[in-house]
Amino acid sequence: MTLSFFGIRRAPTMALLLSLAAVATGCASMSHGSKAAPTASLYSRLGGYDAIAAVTDDFLGGALGDPRIAPYFKGLEPKDIQRIRQHVVDQLCNATGGPCYYPGRDMKTVHAEMEINNDIWNAFTGHLNPTMDKFRVPERERNELVNIIGSLRGSIVNR
Ligand code: HEM
Repeated sequence: MTLSFFGIRRAPTMALLLSLAAVATGCASMSHGSKAAPTASLYSRLGGYDAIAAVTDDFLGGALGDPRIAPYFKGLEPKDIQRIRQHVVDQLCNATGGPCYYPGRDMKTVHAEMEINNDIWNAFTGHLNPTMDKFRVPERERNELVNIIGSLRGSIVNR
């Protein structure tokens, strides 16, 4: 499994993505390069759709390139990986308060036959911290994102 499935060749910082989002949306609270208002959704504070897609690509690139994780995705075609990637983006966009609909299957059904235990879960989600480091996600947003992903654990770990 290589990162090329996700087209990851560079990793713009969250600061850059925040400024890009400000330009793209013309949002007053971001147009001076400052952070989104504290009351803004996590989706907005992370920098919107493109930032979430970039974070997802980096996170999944790390996870799927991990020899402990790769066997679970063995045999899937690039189009399947693209679908999974798009569904994770949709899911995170939706869960962080963004304007996205998640059209995929529920987590319990998807992962039911995979015999995912705590070690595999920890290996997979262990790729989140390096990604958030790389994108310089601030502490408050890190904690919220970790909580959102952590809330899926009970539906995914089944061993
Ligand atoms: C951060 C935790 C996780 C999230 C948010 C997540 C999310 C998803 C999503 C959204 C899909 C696509 C569902 C669909 O297309 O209907 C998916 C599929 C899949 N996930 Fe996960 N997952 C997580 C953890 C794991 C772990 C720990 C493993 C195993 C190591 C795993 C293995 C897979 C596989 C193999 C598929 C493809 C299933 C298929 O379409 O045949 N996932 N996951």
